[in-house]
Amino acid sequence: MANLEYLIAESQNDFNACADMPTLENAKAKYLGKAGALTEALKGLGKLSSEERPAAGAAINVVKQAVEAALNLRRETILNAVQAQQLSQESIDVTLPARAQSQGGLHPVTLTLQRIEQLFHSIGFDVATGPEIETDFYNFTALNIPENHPARAMHDTFYVDESNVLRTHTSPVQIHYMEDKAPPLKIIAPGRVYRVDSDATHSPMFHQVEGLWVDENISFANLKGVVQDFLQKFFERDDLTVRFRPSFFPFTEPSAEMDMSWNGGWLEIGGCGMVHPEVFKHVNIDSEKYRGFAFGLGVERLAMLRYGVNDLRHFFNNDLRFLSQFNK
Ligand code: DAH
Repeated sequence: MANLEYLIAESQNDFNACADMPTLENAKAKYLGKAGALTEALKGLGKLSSEERPAAGAAINVVKQAVEAALNLRRETILNAVQAQQLSQESIDVTLPARAQSQGGLHPVTLTLQRIEQLFHSIGFDVATGPEIETDFYNFTALNIPENHPARAMHDTFYVDESNVLRTHTSPVQIHYMEDKAPPLKIIAPGRVYRVDSDATHSPMFHQVEGLWVDENISFANLKGVVQDFLQKFFERDDLTVRFRPSFFPFTEPSAEMDMSWNGGWLEIGGCGMVHPEVFKHVNIDSEKYRGFAFGLGVERLAMLRYGVNDLRHFFNNDLRFLSQFNK
């Protein structure tokens, strides 16, 4: 039995020479397998006398336990090494730079609309909206543009069907609002409008902002004050002035085109006038008692001037190289 002790050192050497689990399992067979040295020794116990057997059995078991302990130790070492290698391969290097998140931003026209609304809101104007598909009545007739009137030709209209159009201007919002509410009224109506037109300065869809102030003593002077004040704030130029040129719109009388001073010259920025009595009649407002001014401004025009954009189509091409310049 004493000569079994050498198996402890031998198995330790064998096990420690194993670099992975399959080799270790092979090495184990040499000692603990069916034909292994220790298994054989245990089998041999039967040949011993009953006096010798207990001591011999105990001695074999001591060796067997030592071999098993050596095996387990090696097994643990190998498994730890395998796991450590796996972890090092799969681990995330938290010091690597993060993949950049691209951040969205508001469209320059939206930014411009927000600025317009905020400035008019600060001087007491409410924001009104209306449908983009209008009946012929709201887009034209109620605005004193009857059928077959030459003024209809001023607008290259998209017809949805015989009696509905894509609104060609924001002026019909005036009608909706005055139908619903009694004076005094003080609103702007920003929104999309549509016309059959497309080049560097025209887009089939664009934005206008309508203004309307109806009260007992509203005059052209109020109109000039409001528009000039707004433009000075919008462009952050205290010396900006506004001038009017006589013009014609069916829904205002008198009517004018508005120009603003710009780099030593004048730039046209919209139309305006005093609300026509015929328009008041359509919405049951007493034109003997009330007067109002109205105006319409092109939003893209304002945005182009404020941001220094020279082609209207940039706004609608959805080119991120252009649009991302407005992310702030
Ligand atoms: N609706 C006109 C257009 O689109 C602009 C306009 C002119 C609006 C005069 C007004 C106004 O409110 O008074 O061409």
